[in-house]
Amino acid sequence: MKNMKIKNTFVMSLIAFSISNVYALENAATSGSITAAKPVTEQIVDTLTKLAGGPHAGYRANHAKGIVVLGEFTPAKSAASITKAAHLQTTKSSVIVRFSDATGVPTIPDADGNAFPKGIAIRFTLPDSTTTDIVSISTNGFPAATPEDFLGLLNAVAASGADAPKPAPIETFLGTHPAAKAFVTMPKLPPVSFATQGFYGVNAFKFTNAKGETQYGRYRIMPVKGQHFLSAEAAKKTTPNYLFEDLPKRLAKKPVQYKLSVQLADKTDNVNDATAVWPDSRKQVLLGTLTLKTVDADGVKFEKATMFNPLTLVDGIEASEDPILLARPAAYAVSYGRRLNK
Ligand code: HEM
Repeated sequence: MKNMKIKNTFVMSLIAFSISNVYALENAATSGSITAAKPVTEQIVDTLTKLAGGPHAGYRANHAKGIVVLGEFTPAKSAASITKAAHLQTTKSSVIVRFSDATGVPTIPDADGNAFPKGIAIRFTLPDSTTTDIVSISTNGFPAATPEDFLGLLNAVAASGADAPKPAPIETFLGTHPAAKAFVTMPKLPPVSFATQGFYGVNAFKFTNAKGETQYGRYRIMPVKGQHFLSAEAAKKTTPNYLFEDLPKRLAKKPVQYKLSVQLADKTDNVNDATAVWPDSRKQVLLGTLTLKTVDADGVKFEKATMFNPLTLVDGIEASEDPILLARPAAYAVSYGRRLNK
């Protein structure tokens, strides 16, 4: 009995000690006497939110404006040559796909240069209810090879307002980061439709087939009808939601299809650097056909309640060591948590 009292007193004082320390830390942090070490991924979400003039309650910190559609995926015979992944063998899967504009601005006009790159998030559901995601963008490559560099780029943009010193922080950053410069200066022609936009996986994955053979590759999702873009003149005449109005109209007439394939890495290709674009001459293996049929009537509810995750993988597909890929789930989870709390 006596012992228990001692233990309890000890536990209580430990709790009191911890609580007072938490308050002390919080006070110190808010008074600016120490810097609370936020993970880089959370800092990225903070800067994305700031750049978007947010927080925009209930929306994603990036790719906030989206539309959700439903369809199916039919695997191609060639898929089994590179992977034993269940959804890439013989069985069809149902898919739910979210197309999006970049930035955390939920009302961004579709043809705005900042609404680039476009995004596609695909969730495959297998007959046994297993799910796996592919999350890709409309550029072949990323502006940064590490989350730290991505944060540096975003912070440089945020610090480069009209009253910024000259040279602006973004000019200095781009001067020392050629991949970021190539990304921000590439032409940003908006697509005619999401149905005429191609998408790239950007990050590499390791594929293993039934014989245990492995190779690295990056996804490509290309519209069956080819890629078509608007001229700069035509882009100026678009309505703010032209892509989001076009897709339901197209689907009401007929399905929209894409070919999913993998661009295989050569021995000389860097599989862990999202800024390193591999030559187009690399072999591509067809994985199958994505057939989108209807707009999801519950899409708004679904997109709020769902976090697509490029690392929700199945046997036969593994992550590479690309630091950008490995950072993504943590950043998405921060954005997801904030979205759910609104
Ligand atoms: C460190 C690098 C990256 C960071 C920090 C980042 C951050 C984010 C965040 C915070 C979201 C919102 C997620 C949510 O709330 O559910 C998001 C969404 C998205 N990101 Fe990234 N991202 C990164 C790299 C990439 C790359 C390399 C790609 C494409 C290959 C990509 C494609 C997308 C797409 C398509 C969405 C929308 C997904 C959806 O529809 O739910 N991101 N990103």
